[in-house]
Amino acid sequence: MTKKVAIIGATSGIGRALAVEMHNRGYTIGATGRRLERLQDLKQQLNTRIYTQFMDVTELDDAVHKLDQLKKDMGGLDIIVLNAGVSNYQKDSVGRQADLHVIDVNVRGFANLASYSFNLFEEQGHGHIVGISSVAGLFGWGLNIPYNASKSFVNTYLQGYRQKANHSDADIYVSTIMPGFVESEMTEGKKDLFWVQPTEKAATQIGDAIERKKNEVYITKRWRLVGWFVKLVPNWVWNRM
Ligand SMILES: NC(=O)c1ccc[n+]([C@@H]2O[C@H](COP(=O)([O-])OP(=O)(O)OC[C@H]3O[C@@H](n4cnc5c(N)ncnc54)[C@H](OP(=O)(O)O)[C@@H]3O)[C@@H](O)[C@H]2O)c1
Repeated sequence: MTKKVAIIGATSGIGRALAVEMHNRGYTIGATGRRLERLQDLKQQLNTRIYTQFMDVTELDDAVHKLDQLKKDMGGLDIIVLNAGVSNYQKDSVGRQADLHVIDVNVRGFANLASYSFNLFEEQGHGHIVGISSVAGLFGWGLNIPYNASKSFVNTYLQGYRQKANHSDADIYVSTIMPGFVESEMTEGKKDLFWVQPTEKAATQIGDAIERKKNEVYITKRWRLVGWFVKLVPNWVWNRM
């Protein structure tokens, strides 16, 4: 039987490319997002083994209901990829409402579905949670304050669930995916970015990480160097940046 993967936020960028990648690897795909025309477009492209579901992750109870519905439509779920995320790099990253929106999507929206996923997998005895975090989660950054903080939350939140999975009788895996810069609507038109990687390359490496059940992985591989470097920089240097 083919494995079933739900991808939360599959209407563009990394999520959409991952849906295509996992479909090519033989998985049945459950794709969610708010842009219905994009979901329809993906459905037409993939044609078979594809289910779609409208979902706004900030509508917490409704998002859980929608994921539950998707699971029923698909006849179960083996892997849930929590990919939906927003950033407000440089443009309007100052302001209470802008900050809170990032937190609503990347923190509250994420934790809501991660928690649901863990409980589901404990009940059914197996499953794999894949969280799309970021290299940005390794340090604070004045040009994207809530975003970096939100991804730092994702990293430690998933680490906690990974520990919990180790103590569970169920066969649960938790993967933290940390991309550097990847081509997508999130990075489109942004200046001063470096090593921006093609979306398909990122999706291939994320697909490999999922199948190898990696705990933590940088995407693409070269971003591991940045990860190592960032961890070596002392706090007093970060504070002066
Ligand atoms: N691109 C990069 O350089 C980069 C680097 C590191 C990490 N990441 C992470 O990768 C993930 C995907 O980002 P991307 O670069 O592919 O950007 P993207 O093209 O803007 O995709 C964002 C996805 O999130 C969904 N989303 C946003 N707000 C949502 C909401 N309220 N409810 C439900 N879905 C929502 C969008 O779907 P709808 O708009 O249709 O709802 C879309 O499918 C994010 O978590 C991001 O933080 C990206």
